[in-house]
Amino acid sequence: MKRRIGILTSGGDCPGLNAAIRGVVRASYEQFDTEIIGIKDGYRGLIEGDYEELTREQFSGILTLGGTILGTARTPFSNMRVIGEDKVDKVKAMKNNYQKMKLDCLITLGGNGTHKTANLLAQEGLNIIALPKTIDNDIYGTDFTFGFHSALDIATDVIDRIHSTAASHGRCMVIEIMGNKAGWLTLYSGMAGGADVILIPEIPYDIEKVAEVIEKRAKAGKSFSIIAVAEGAMTNEEAEMNKKDRVEQKEKDPYCSISHKIASQLQEMIGVEARHVVPGHIQRGGSPCAYDRVLSTQFGVHAAHLIKNNTYGITVALNNNKITHNLLSDVAGRPSPVPLDHQMVLAARKIGINMGD
Ligand code: F6P
Repeated sequence: MKRRIGILTSGGDCPGLNAAIRGVVRASYEQFDTEIIGIKDGYRGLIEGDYEELTREQFSGILTLGGTILGTARTPFSNMRVIGEDKVDKVKAMKNNYQKMKLDCLITLGGNGTHKTANLLAQEGLNIIALPKTIDNDIYGTDFTFGFHSALDIATDVIDRIHSTAASHGRCMVIEIMGNKAGWLTLYSGMAGGADVILIPEIPYDIEKVAEVIEKRAKAGKSFSIIAVAEGAMTNEEAEMNKKDRVEQKEKDPYCSISHKIASQLQEMIGVEARHVVPGHIQRGGSPCAYDRVLSTQFGVHAAHLIKNNTYGITVALNNNKITHNLLSDVAGRPSPVPLDHQMVLAARKIGINMGD
């Protein structure tokens, strides 16, 4: 049995992509006659026919490597069926290149946007297997995506380091954590780093309440405070607005980021000395942590098992500590925010962490 497998990585990169690629490739070579085609920069390479046949040796030594050896790009799903100025029919081009490469299947490693396009291609008749990667951990049907735990370690380290300088200066430090519209990374790193306040998009915040917490801490003799805020966190008023109004309001804001805004407001409201920190893409950089190396490898091995059994239209998942899979059509377009009654939210509240409400 021979399988010609195309692989692409799409969307924002994260630690663990190379480990997952390696997992698919090694497990495939071990089980059947394998040919691997590496597609450059995600769907961009598939549309433009930018790909290369790779040898087994080219996947050696990449387990611990951050980023992606295949390159990645954001190719928004919303544009996939739109014919732009270049007059390229992107869906048709992707199907043509799939045929041209003589693929038996295509493995897509990516987040929510990647899954939507993967599902579109599956509906167009291509054999697709998706692997859920993102530091945001917001893909439906999997307990964890790979990349999340590495980013969690980095974000926690940032909070730890901020702690000591906050304590020395008696400051209120506001740390802005990535995660797009989901609060998973902020919730977990805030908990791991001992934040006093955790603000996530799923729980709209009231700045007066946050100010009260900081003042109360000061009165109790705590000279410093740590606020972990998700980049997508919203006030009660913002949460009630429609998306367009919210974007317009943000554009009028004099602040360069949500952490800047909160630090400035608190300084003005209660006179606390406040600073903001935006670790940004550092959270996506470097080598995958041990958890992600293992999870990515297991996801890759499962993908090879699916290829062997000709099972397509699937996304791999972790469910109750077991590697399994879901239908792409069930997962695509269905993000996974933090449920308000999630045990981590309840635990945070139980140990006195304020969630801004
Ligand atoms: O989806 C991963 C992520 O890092 C989000 O947490 C963040 O909002 C976004 O990507 C940043 O995107 P970009 O790398 O395109 O600036």
